[in-house]
Amino acid sequence: MTDQATLAVRDLRVEVESKPILRGVDLDVAQGEIHALMGPNGSGKSTLAYTLMGHPKYVVTGGSASFDGRDLLALTPDERARLGLFLCFQYPTAIPGVTTVNFLRAALRSLGKEMKAREFLNRLKEEMDELRIDESFRSRYINDGFSGGEKKRSEILQLAMLRPRLAILDETDSGLDVDALRTVAEGVMRLAGPDMGVLVITHYPRILEYLRPDAVHVLHQGRVVTSGGYELAQRIERDGYEPIIGTAVAEPAGV
Ligand SMILES: Nc1ncnc2c1ncn2[C@@H]1O[C@H](COP(=O)(O)OP(=O)(O)OP(=O)(O)O)[C@@H](O)[C@H]1O
Ligand SMILES: [Mg+2]
Repeated sequence: MTDQATLAVRDLRVEVESKPILRGVDLDVAQGEIHALMGPNGSGKSTLAYTLMGHPKYVVTGGSASFDGRDLLALTPDERARLGLFLCFQYPTAIPGVTTVNFLRAALRSLGKEMKAREFLNRLKEEMDELRIDESFRSRYINDGFSGGEKKRSEILQLAMLRPRLAILDETDSGLDVDALRTVAEGVMRLAGPDMGVLVITHYPRILEYLRPDAVHVLHQGRVVTSGGYELAQRIERDGYEPIIGTAVAEPAGV
């Protein structure tokens, strides 16, 4: 393995239930960089995230995706996680019967990063304090009955404990109050750096104000149609997608 791994996506084509969704995505994210992926509802952002993690519903029909020089598409989801990929879900699911503490221990074990009980509990406490997550969440079933914002912070807690090499955050900023957004953004900033790259999928420039991404990409109808810097996100906020993607907007945002 090299020190700095890169996610390289080339002409990636993906179908869901025989419907083409991704129609040739090209994207490069190096381990030490922060990239933002924006785009209208239904443009394929979550599809790309799920495909990179190996969700079986998303069928690759062409192109390639590699991380650290390894062909991701040939690996199981478990192997991709062991390689250092992590996805914060847009809609985190509850796992009744599995406490946060047990989930994280099991996840660390399966990644080959097992720690002694005391070290684990100390680190968990530190990370929960940083993310302002109440201690009671340790023994609650993961995401079960968590509020929307609590689920998102719980995702960042997993990220902080598992320390992947590349984190994909799918709308982790949606539904957060202003203080929680700052806590989450600061949490991501604390982890991002030479050891962790970030692909942040978002509809809002607000989180990007904190994260200051190296690049912003716009996905439209399953393709990256333009890329730029932070100012691209500001332009989208001000003028909408229409001037960027022209008259080809298939569906208005919000459908
Ligand atoms: N599991 C699925 N079954 C059926 N259709 C799907 C599935 N996943 C994605 N699609 C379809 O693929 C298209 C892209 O969806 P995707 O969730 O990737 O969009 P998105 O860019 O993440 O949108 P949003 O901004 O609303 O989260 C949509 O038309 C969606 O209905
Ligand atoms: Mg989505």
